[in-house]
This record gives sequence, structure tokens and C-alpha cells, in this order.
Amino acid sequence: MKNKIDVVLGLQWGDEGKGKIVDVLAGRYPIVARFQGGPNAGHSLHFDGKSFVLRSIPSGIFREDAINIVGNGVVLDPITFMGECENISKTGIRVQDRIVIAKKAHLILPTHRLLDAANEAAMGKGKIGSTLKGIGPTYTDRVSRNGLRVGDILSDDFTQRYAKLKARHAKQLQQMGYECDPDAEDGKFMEAIEFIKGFRLVDCEYFVNKSLEEKSILAEGAQGTMLDVDYGSYPFVTSSSTACAGACVGLGVPPSRIGHVYGIFKAYCTRVGSGPFPTELFDETGEKLRKIGNEFGAVTGRPRRCGWLDLVALKYAVMIDGVTDLIMMKSDCLDSFETIKVCTSYKVDGKETDQVPFDTYAEIEPVYTEFKGWNRDLTGYRKEEDMPEEFREYIRFMENYLGVPIRIISVGPDRDATIMR
Ligand code: IMO
Ligand code: MG
Repeated sequence: MKNKIDVVLGLQWGDEGKGKIVDVLAGRYPIVARFQGGPNAGHSLHFDGKSFVLRSIPSGIFREDAINIVGNGVVLDPITFMGECENISKTGIRVQDRIVIAKKAHLILPTHRLLDAANEAAMGKGKIGSTLKGIGPTYTDRVSRNGLRVGDILSDDFTQRYAKLKARHAKQLQQMGYECDPDAEDGKFMEAIEFIKGFRLVDCEYFVNKSLEEKSILAEGAQGTMLDVDYGSYPFVTSSSTACAGACVGLGVPPSRIGHVYGIFKAYCTRVGSGPFPTELFDETGEKLRKIGNEFGAVTGRPRRCGWLDLVALKYAVMIDGVTDLIMMKSDCLDSFETIKVCTSYKVDGKETDQVPFDTYAEIEPVYTEFKGWNRDLTGYRKEEDMPEEFREYIRFMENYLGVPIRIISVGPDRDATIMR
């Protein structure tokens, strides 16, 4: 039988708990690959009393023998990457043995970060709420064919090409009237470039397809389907294809090689940054979710907007991604709620619909189905049979609505707090 690439994706607006699940699943896969996004991601892992937040490094890094690919579709910030590696190296892991980097991955320059900040400042109230990591400007340069790629660092004229792109950015920044020093991080950047030369730089498409002859691969998505550049709530999205199809483009594999599609969602919803969020709660219930779920950005520290689970948006994501297996995170955060609500349709212009509307600015009124809370601490459970009937009822309802089985239920941040069904 041919080996496949199984894909793990966030189905909401990011921060679904992808890091934990990839870390749990990585035990079964010899290769883990990131295929899009960059250091805007913050994937948190907790095990053996330790915690890590990964930004560009795939979440298989703590599994012995696993190879971690930074794929073609990723945008890599050498400075952040070096910092991340230094942090992990402290645990005794030799990162150079476990990470390979795609030559076609685009480089985030320090001036891409400045441009991100300048763009956001220029938009004022209409800003995206970007993580300011230079993601948008780097993908813009990729599409406009001005970007620099990891493979370019090996060429003799890399310094000149860097200077040329930086000059272009400096001009843009000046035109925007954004005060900054475009040269400020040159030294650090070049140091990080030298650091990257210590890794295996690969032709990702060959590496992945060859590896598939013997091994299966787990592809790790960043962000979530509702932040996809095409299918998210444009323009309040990130600049990459976060949906399942992005894995093919970002790694250089044909769609026929995709196996399981693991879709991760939280038992409620969160969003950081601007943009529509139909089930957002502005009251004490939202505040309670934020507190219990510790919903503060792993990258920016920003408080996350919180609200009830939105099944209309979730079903939309399941459709676009072709999800085969659902994974529900943070169910335990709902333990103390008397009533739990899920949004099962929208009212747009007074008309009820179960579809996500085109218009990002449409007034959407969520229509809810209510469930009786289980009012019990779920964190200790490891077997489904033992779980409260109210919780099992809640699960059955969702599986029915979404038409896809929930295979994994997470009841706590630790590796072990995981129920496989
Ligand atoms: P992980 O992988 C949550 C959001 C930003 C902003 C929008 C665009 O940890 O789930 P960008 O910096 O990409 O241009 O920002 O997308 N965003 C995320 N939100 N989790 C993430 O990643 C995110 N990456 C970007 O807040 O609204
Ligand atoms: Mg995040």
C-alpha cells in the first residue's frame, strides 16, 4: 500500500491546540512537515512538566527519530528561527539532526516586519490585527516575484540580493512616511543566515515524495481554515492557504497522496485580531471562557476574543478541508457552565441560513441550540464510557451535525490528557 500524507488542520481562527495534537500523533509518524505560515503561529506543547511554544519549527521536534520539515510554503524568519532553536537546544536536542529546511521556503527579512507594521499603521481602525511578524509582506513579495528564498543563501551574491530587496523595502517605507531604521537588524540577520547554513537544505518536493516511498508523513497546518486567504473572512485573514489544499502546494505533493485529514476545533471559539466573529461574547460568559481557557495569545500575549462554538463555520471548514477525523480540544474548559450553547444557523438580513455569507461585513445573528452542562471535572477521564451522559450527548449532536466522527477528545493540555476513540 502506498504511504500517505495525513494532514492536521485548525478548523477555526487558529489556536485550536494543533501543537499538542501533532506532538501526540507524531509518535506514529517518522516525518512531520509544516507547509504554510510562519512565526505568526504559536504552537504550545506541554509534557513532563515542561512547556514550549513553537513558531516555525514543526511540533514533532520533541519526538526522537522524527524528521521535521520546514516546507516550501512556509515563510521563515531566520532570526526568530535561530532563537527558537537555541531554546530547544537547551534541552539537549541537536536540532540540526531533526530539522530539514526547504530551499523554496521564502525568507522573512527584518524589513518585511517593518512593512507589516507600516501597513497596519496606515490602515488605522480598519487594520487586520496582524501578528506583525512580516507574514503578509513576505507572501506579497513571493507572489509579486521579488522574494528571497532559503536556497538563495547559498549563492555568492546573496548579500547583494539582500541589499537590493532591502532597498526596495526602504523606499516603500519612506513613501509611507514610516519612521524606522531598515538596517538595524542586518548584523543579526546575517548571523542567523549563517546559522541556517548548518541545516540540511532540501528540495522539499523530492524529499517528501521520496520519503513517501517508505514512510508516512504528518503535515502540520498553522492558523485555521477561517483565516485562509481565499476561504476565510477576507480581508481579515492571514496571507497563506491554511486549508488542506495548502498542504499539496506547500510540500509539492499531489492531492491523491493525502490520507487522513484531522480537523481540530475547540469546544468553543476564539479569535485574535480583527474580523467577523458571529458567536463572540462580550459579557461575563466570554470573560469566563477567556479565564478558564487561558485565552491569551502565545505569540503576542493579546487577549483572545471568546464565544460559543460556531457549527455553521465549522461545517464550512469541514467541507473545504475534506475532514475525515475530528479532534475536539479543551472540552474541559466547559466543565463549570450550567448551559452550553452551540450556534447551528445564522440569521442574515432576517433570513435563516446554514451557510457562511460572502459579505464579511454582514450583520450575522447566531441561532443557538442549548445543552445542559455536565458540571463535572473532565480532566481526569481517560475512557469515554466513564464520561458524563450530558457530555456524550453533546458529542453525538456535533457528530450528527457535522457528519464526521470525533476521533480524539482532549481534556487537558498535557500529552496524556487525551481520549482516543
Ligand atoms: P496558530 O498557528 C491565531 C491572525 C492574526 C490576524 C490575522 C493575520 O498559532 O493557530 P498575520 O500575522 O498572519 O498577517 O495575521 O491572522 N493569526 C492567528 N491567530 N493563531 C495563529 O496561528 C495566527 N496566525 C495569524 O491575529 O488576525
Ligand atoms: Mg496562535
